[in-house]
Amino acid sequence: MSKLSPKSVFITGANRGLGLAFVKHFLDLEELPTHVFAACRQPDQATELTRLAGENGRVRVVKLDVREDEEIAAAVVEVEKVVGDDGLNLLLNNAGVNHQERGLESLTREKMNYHFDCNVTAPLLVSKAFLPLLRRAGNKTDFSCSRAAIINLSSEVSLINFVKRINDFHYAYDCTKCALNMVTDILGREVSPDGVLVAGLHPGWVKTDMGGSNAKLDIEESVPKCMNTIAAMNKDSSGLLYSYAGTIMRWNAEHVITQ
Ligand SMILES: NC(=O)c1ccc[n+]([C@@H]2O[C@H](COP(=O)([O-])OP(=O)(O)OC[C@H]3O[C@@H](n4cnc5c(N)ncnc54)[C@H](OP(=O)(O)O)[C@@H]3O)[C@@H](O)[C@H]2O)c1
Repeated sequence: MSKLSPKSVFITGANRGLGLAFVKHFLDLEELPTHVFAACRQPDQATELTRLAGENGRVRVVKLDVREDEEIAAAVVEVEKVVGDDGLNLLLNNAGVNHQERGLESLTREKMNYHFDCNVTAPLLVSKAFLPLLRRAGNKTDFSCSRAAIINLSSEVSLINFVKRINDFHYAYDCTKCALNMVTDILGREVSPDGVLVAGLHPGWVKTDMGGSNAKLDIEESVPKCMNTIAAMNKDSSGLLYSYAGTIMRWNAEHVITQ
């Protein structure tokens, strides 16, 4: 299997849950990244992450609320100062929200817009802002997550057949993950000429604050498999949604285009 060996990785929402676990697993790679940029919106409250950064010089905590354009721009400047001409190898758009809104009763415009901002607009705009650095690291003949890639954390709830089966009526969260797949698809096609790979990743139903205690997987069952799946991605991966176990999840049912 291909080895994952990015020199630099930027992870949003890295203070807890899957994001924090990703930081730890990047520090466990055989070929260690030189820079692990661990972004979170409140570094002063990110106790475990800041402790990790204190113990390991490869980890840099970056303040980033993904809904704030100025903070995104400042994060890019901060990263560029460190990576310079090498650019950035891997962006993990992990930050996300799920307020578990259920049914129409409590649904509001504000709740829908908040979920769309965090889960769709933010990963797209963070990707846009980091593209110059990703392009710098990109190579048109070597598509991989070690070279230049964006991974969007999506979910099985983005699959129409899955939400029909569970019938949970989570308008806000489920719609955003479906839209995020479209972002992955369009962005993948737009930036592929620059050698940048873009793919979606479903981490499984995982026991985090978001996944809850009834979830099927522990973080340590999900993240190592996610890492293997990321490692195996190649030039044919762009636009696709992968499950943590490496299978391709066909969210975009193929059909005949009539016009
Ligand atoms: N857990 C699952 O079962 C599951 C399944 C499918 C997909 N996913 C996806 O995997 C990703 C990580 O989920 P998780 O389970 O680790 O969730 P989690 O434990 O709830 O953590 C969410 C992370 O996102 C951050 N975040 C939220 N809003 C943010 C903002 N505006 N700016 C920056 N960071 C923000 C949180 O930071 P704060 O601490 O500051 O709030 C936190 O670090 C999400 O995209 C989620 O949709 C999870």
